Amino acid sequence: MKQVLIERYGTPWEVARCAEVPDVGAPAADEVVFDVLAFPINPADMWFCRGSYRLKPPLPATPGAECVGRVTAVGANVRHVKPGDLVINLQRENWAEKRKVKGEDAIPLPAGIDLKQAAMVRINPPTAELMLSDFVDLGGGEWVIQNVANSAVGRLAIVLAHERGLRTVNVVRRAELAAELKPLGADLVLVDGDDLAERVARETGGASIRLGLEAIGGKATGRIADCLASDGTLVHYGSMSGENPDVDRSNFIYRGVRLTGFMLGRFLARRRPEKIREIYAGLAQQVLEGKLSAPVDTVYPIDKIREALAHADKGGRNGKILVSPGGAI
Ligand SMILES: NC(=O)c1ccc[n+]([C@@H]2O[C@H](COP(=O)([O-])OP(=O)(O)OC[C@H]3O[C@@H](n4cnc5c(N)ncnc54)[C@H](OP(=O)(O)O)[C@@H]3O)[C@@H](O)[C@H]2O)c1
Repeated sequence: MKQVLIERYGTPWEVARCAEVPDVGAPAADEVVFDVLAFPINPADMWFCRGSYRLKPPLPATPGAECVGRVTAVGANVRHVKPGDLVINLQRENWAEKRKVKGEDAIPLPAGIDLKQAAMVRINPPTAELMLSDFVDLGGGEWVIQNVANSAVGRLAIVLAHERGLRTVNVVRRAELAAELKPLGADLVLVDGDDLAERVARETGGASIRLGLEAIGGKATGRIADCLASDGTLVHYGSMSGENPDVDRSNFIYRGVRLTGFMLGRFLARRRPEKIREIYAGLAQQVLEGKLSAPVDTVYPIDKIREALAHADKGGRNGKILVSPGGAI
């Protein structure tokens, strides 16, 4: 079977290769084996290849924080999924043709779900959902501000916020994205810039914005902080610039703005397994109904992993880069 291997850390499309490795074999009593139908290339996977992600396992290593698979075999003690079912995997190392995992890590998805969208259910939808619920108890009509608003997480946050009756200020770096984000329910779409706080105040009528979601780092973090109300909460959940947050201290000292961070694993770990399955069931249902989705730019076969990684690194894409090991999508 084919599997992506990183034999040294470095430029993703130089260090990754598609290798032929032994089959995963039959499942033990508590295990599930599935064919990987598709996986996305997420920013965290790029950091992983570069060796700058929080997890840096000994080499060779296989990246891949998420995927969708179709179950081919289950162990005698596994009851919640059966061959033919679609699953996502709570564990990593998913850039391969097949996976063998603990039964509890295989989360079933509804039949009929779009496979491209299913490949992206594991990480970004719960990230958007939990960031909207776990930090500030927002009431209907309140505003949330976010940057990287056209990212997969950003688009999901727009839809989920809109469903909750919240209004969103969406900060992007390309003006033309307003035409894509408004139909999702985005109330305001603004291009990032030094005068962001003044424009946000003007466009929202001076609204008190108590939650900001931020994934660029550097001065971009500070620009979102400047838009928040006193005692507001700024959630830093990624760094597309690779820089640490750079926030004017007056936000903290004079205005009591709180800067905190989000990592999906940390916030899921606060919940019981049943609750986690319930969260995924709810999100997968919304994906099935077409309410939640993220655009896909291109799908590559697994042996074109280097081309896929180079494409994923380019800004200005029209959505995610996916890889389909068996060509199912
Ligand atoms: N903490 C967590 O648990 C968690 C979970 C999921 C995701 N994340 C983070 O969430 C962020 C978005 O992930 P995603 O999968 O939704 O991303 P994505 O769909 O691949 O989109 C990437 C976004 O980043 C923007 N971008 C890229 N480089 C940039 C730069 N130097 N300055 C400003 N913007 C830049 C892109 O803008 P253009 O379209 O204009 O190029 C695009 O909006 C990432 O930082 C990721 O690591 C964190």
